Amino acid sequence: MFYLRIAFVAALVLGAGALNAQVDPGPRSGSPSAGGYYPTLSAAEQALFTQAQGVFKEINSVSGTIPGEESGGLGPTFNGNSCAMCHAQPAVGGSSPGKKSPQNPVPNPQVGLAKLDGATNTVPSFITADGPVREARFITASGQDSAPLDGGVHGLYTIRGRSDATGCNLTQPDFAGELARNNVIFRIPTPLFGLGLVENTPDSTLQTNLAANLTQKAKLGISGRFNTSGNDGTITRFGWKAQNKSLAIFAGEAYNVEQGVSNEVFPNERSAVAGCVFNATPEDATSLTDGSSDANNFAVFMRLTAPSKPSTSTASQINGQGLFGSVGCALCHSLSLTTGKSIFTGMSSVTYRPYSDFALHHMGSNLADGINQGAAGPDEFRTAPLWGVGQRLFFLHDGRTSDLLKAIEAHTSPGSDCVSSQNSLQFKANSDLFHPFSQSYTCGSEANEVIENFNALKTSEKQDILNFLRSL
Ligand code: HEC
Ligand code: HEC
Repeated sequence: MFYLRIAFVAALVLGAGALNAQVDPGPRSGSPSAGGYYPTLSAAEQALFTQAQGVFKEINSVSGTIPGEESGGLGPTFNGNSCAMCHAQPAVGGSSPGKKSPQNPVPNPQVGLAKLDGATNTVPSFITADGPVREARFITASGQDSAPLDGGVHGLYTIRGRSDATGCNLTQPDFAGELARNNVIFRIPTPLFGLGLVENTPDSTLQTNLAANLTQKAKLGISGRFNTSGNDGTITRFGWKAQNKSLAIFAGEAYNVEQGVSNEVFPNERSAVAGCVFNATPEDATSLTDGSSDANNFAVFMRLTAPSKPSTSTASQINGQGLFGSVGCALCHSLSLTTGKSIFTGMSSVTYRPYSDFALHHMGSNLADGINQGAAGPDEFRTAPLWGVGQRLFFLHDGRTSDLLKAIEAHTSPGSDCVSSQNSLQFKANSDLFHPFSQSYTCGSEANEVIENFNALKTSEKQDILNFLRSL
């Protein structure tokens, strides 16, 4: 009895403490802060946006003849059947939908997709009705830590059993086995609003921004570098690891990887096994009548979307905005960038607020996913743009949390956890022997000291930062 009472008192004290702690206020309600076209566009450009948005919402089946799924080319493997299925919150073009949305509460559509039109897929354990839309990558080829790297996306589902895929016997990857070998990592959709501004930002602007405040960055252990294209040497900026060069390339890749629709940018079917290929390729191609393709429409839609509109107004949010700068968040999550000259009305020399430097940073073992994409190594990620974060439901590359405070705390990792890579080659060219050697060694997260600053704030100040983030 006595012990019981002590336990009860302790629970009360802890409870009171929890009430005083800072809490993520959760996704902002009210109308979506984005989803429309860039406000200064001409009437013709607005019409183009609206048409492209319609194509972005189309649903794919294998044959393109199933009512309601009239766009063809789905599979043989896929993670979704429409761009808008995954890019949905708080409006078409956004991030993962979910049940906790104040705007459009829906369960994860990947659950229902498993058996659509007679398909026989089982839902992998990491896809749940309450969780985010996800895609899966395997770290190594066999799950052994010394095996060659894999890194690729493995489609969740196949078209086997579908009424429009008779004869296809392709089975799903062994997700349970790979999970047991700790070989699976996840990615959730990033929002697409305002990406035309990002695409049209000159490399020199990004370089100047990354080179700013160098002394302050160095003092806090922040460096950062850009991922670049092996083809033309310019900065790549799209995706969690800034792995993709342009919206057209991302659109083509997503159509092939997420939906299994081959197209003019990515013309070869993935997992094109015998019995599962039903259409001539590319499945999406330039129309002979109006010169458009689905992939091109997707890129146009993304290029012409308006960025999310922040609602920062309360004293707490405004205070949080200041603290976001003073503790050092803005050293990576850059406050503003300016576009170059644009072909679209009113989109030239626009200063916008993405809250990202679009550079890669070492984030340490807590966030490392073991995937290499271009220059991005196992623990490097593009600073996640925070515009629109106020109406998002899931955070971090794998969607591990819905709580902004947890997303912030996940930025830290022990300085004793190091990533090293070494590359040595030997070859003869131009009648000379070359043996180039490169080595890199980094320990812990570049954000460690900034998060220490954040943790040292008063509870009410941390709350101000959370309130500020939910106003974006
Ligand atoms: C099954 C869900 C799913 C579908 C369907 C899907 N995406 Fe995505 N999208 C993702 C995920 C996951 C990412 C993050 C990928 C990464 O960086 O690893 C992403 C990222 C993107 C990005 C990068 C944006 C940025 O922040 O840099 C673009 C662009 C994009 N998708 C366009 C599209 C288009 C166009 C379609 C339709 C052809 C599409 N997506 C269909 C899940 C999806
Ligand atoms: C060293 C650079 C760096 C610093 C400093 C930094 N961040 Fe980040 N932040 C990142 C990167 C990189 C990611 C993406 C990590 C991932 O998903 O694995 C991220 C992700 C986030 C996310 C999740 C966004 C999303 O799209 O899911 C939030 C919220 C966030 N940061 C807030 C903050 C706040 C608040 C601070 C300051 C207390 C801060 N960050 C400091 C680099 C940084």
